[in-house]
Parts: sequence; C-alpha cells; structure tokens
Amino acid sequence: MKKILITGSEGFIGSHLVERLMTNKAYQLHLLVQYNSFSNKGWLNDLKLKQNIKIIYGDIRDEIFIDSIVKNMDYVFHLAALISIPYSYQSPKEFINTNVVGSLNIFNACLKHKVKKIIHTSTSEVYGSAQYTPIDEKHPLVGQSPYSASKISADNLALAYNKSYNLPVIIIRPFNCFGPRQSLRAIIPSLINQCLNYNTVKVGDLSTIRDFTYVKDTAQAFENCLKYSVRNFGEIINVGSGKSFKISDILRKITKIIGKKINIKVEKKRIRPKKSEVYKLLSSTSKSKKILRWKAYSNSMNFDQALVYTINWYIKNKNKFIEDTKNYNL
Ligand SMILES: NC(=O)c1ccc[n+]([C@@H]2O[C@H](COP(=O)([O-])OP(=O)(O)OC[C@H]3O[C@@H](n4cnc5c(N)ncnc54)[C@H](O)[C@@H]3O)[C@@H](O)[C@H]2O)c1
Repeated sequence: MKKILITGSEGFIGSHLVERLMTNKAYQLHLLVQYNSFSNKGWLNDLKLKQNIKIIYGDIRDEIFIDSIVKNMDYVFHLAALISIPYSYQSPKEFINTNVVGSLNIFNACLKHKVKKIIHTSTSEVYGSAQYTPIDEKHPLVGQSPYSASKISADNLALAYNKSYNLPVIIIRPFNCFGPRQSLRAIIPSLINQCLNYNTVKVGDLSTIRDFTYVKDTAQAFENCLKYSVRNFGEIINVGSGKSFKISDILRKITKIIGKKINIKVEKKRIRPKKSEVYKLLSSTSKSKKILRWKAYSNSMNFDQALVYTINWYIKNKNKFIEDTKNYNL
C-alpha cells in the first residue's frame, strides 16, 4: 500500500481528490484538515470515508508538526492554501505565511523524509492577464494580486528545491475549477446561488474570460500525476480545458438553465483594482495531454452538462449555504 498525504483535503478540490483516490485499494490516505476547535472536517463530512483513512488536524505553517506527518509518506499532494483574491488584498502577510512558508515546510519535510513524489498545486492566476493564448507553461508569470504573488513564490521554491536538492516535485497548475462543494465566493457558485435566491444578481466585471474545468476532471489530472509523470520532476503542467467563456456568457447559461429572468447590478466592490484584474485566461492543453494523458471533459460530462449537474447540486444542498447566501448578496 502506498501512503499518501493530502493537504487541503477538506477543501473544494481536495475533497474531490479524496473521493477519487479512496476508491483505489492500493492507496492509504492521510488527510490533513486545518485545525479548528470544532473538529470540523469541512467537505470531508460529505464523504463516506473508509475506516483505514486517517484524519490529522493541524496547520501547514507549523514546521515541526508538518515534519512529523510527512514522515513515512510515499507521496504528498499539497493543495492547502489561502485562495481568496479579495482577502489577499486585505491580509497579504497571511498569504505569505500560508502559501509560501507553509509550502516551504512541506518541501523541507518531503526532502528530509525522502518522499517519492510531491504534487504541488499552483494556479493559472500566476500568469496574470494572458499576453498570448493559449497560455503555455512558458508564459511569463505576473503577480497581479498578493494571492498570485504568493503562489508564484511557492512555485519558484518548488522549482528551486528540484534544481538545488533534486526534490521530486511536479507542479500542477489548474485553471479555474467549478462543481459541487465550491465556496460561494467563487464566481460560478456565486452566480448560481444569487440566481436561485434573488431577482437581482450583483456582479463585478462580466467581461473577463476564464477557462473552466469541471472539478472531477481536475481531480483526475491530479491522480494521473501518480500514474504517468514518472520522469517529469521539476515540470509545470497546466490543467485547463483549452476553451474559455466570458463570465457574462456563463451567467446567461445559468439563467437559461434555472429558467429565471434576473436584473444585473454591477457593484464597484466586486471589481478588482484595474491593474490587478486578470482579463483573460485560456490554457494550452498540449503538456497535460502528453504527460498526464489527460484532457478536460473527455470521460465525464461536457461543460454545459457539468453546469446543470452543479446547479442541481446547489439546489439540493441549499441548507448548507443559508448563512453564506445571506452574506454574499449583501
Ligand atoms: N478552485 C479553483 O478554481 C483553483 C484554481 C487553481 C488553483 N487552485 C488551487 O487549488 C488548491 C485548492 O483550492 P480549493 O479551491 O480547493 O480551495 P479551498 O479553500 O476549498 O481549499 C483549501 C484548503 O486549504 C486549507 N488550508 C488553508 N490554510 C491552511 C493551513 N494553514 N494549514 C492547513 N490547511 C490549510 C483550507 O482549510 C482549505 O480546506 C489551492 O492550492 C488553490 O490555490 C484552485
């Protein structure tokens, strides 16, 4: 059995990765959940976890703790991060402490305990607004928000550790994901929930363009890193669909599926500072096809079907979002 540690396991993408990996009997999962005084397991509460899965409460910022949980692991999937761009404008230092220092703790522990493969999670936000499309892995990195800057730093640390100490790390760079269990702070769930609960949808810049991957496909790309990327240490691999939509087009699709006429109100507080806005993201898919043998929407649903599935999930699970729904339309 291969022992696998997943950080950020209770989060949106992490919980889908857990759901996928737990069906494989060859894996023994150790799930890091950020310590909280309620012993809340986040989205892991929605999964029927098998008995041999170990949950560990703690924090990636604690070097000694991380060293103790990485010991004896074969593989580490590192997804834990602070991800909210608006919050990163307010508290940039928290982003450095979590996303950079936390990642450094993971890399040091993996090196010391000779972990065989580390999958480090980047984000398409590191590219800033596309200077050319599709965006390949050689596209310049432009930190347009403290979040993006912190992820660029963590990615560069991972690459430096590979070059300096042969850290067996692969960097997965997901483009925007969507699907069940995503926070209402993210654009697709925000639009879905507002359309379901209100007649007026409050938005920021509807002209921005994003490449969206269904989260179950993203989780498959992560798993394929274990299966296929045998000699690709130090590589960065974009994980996106190669197709993009304007946010206004997505809003139109959502209102059509829900079957509701809505008013749109553009709110200044939902618009990023001008130079910080990322106007277009569209991923090249060559490297993910070649190395991971992965393509978005190839086995499961297409974008429109995944959007319908996601909307139905939010309808069925509306009780879980009562407080958030009130807050995010304020
Ligand atoms: N959601 C997307 O569209 C997207 C796109 C590109 C990249 N990513 C990356 O994917 C990863 C997962 O993102 P997500 O969307 O699932 O976000 P999420 O917020 O749902 O999950 C992140 C998890 O990290 C945990 N975490 C935060 N700080 C921690 C700490 N100090 N110690 C331990 N755990 C901590 C949180 O509790 C949370 O469960 C992140 O690295 C993010 O940058 C996400």
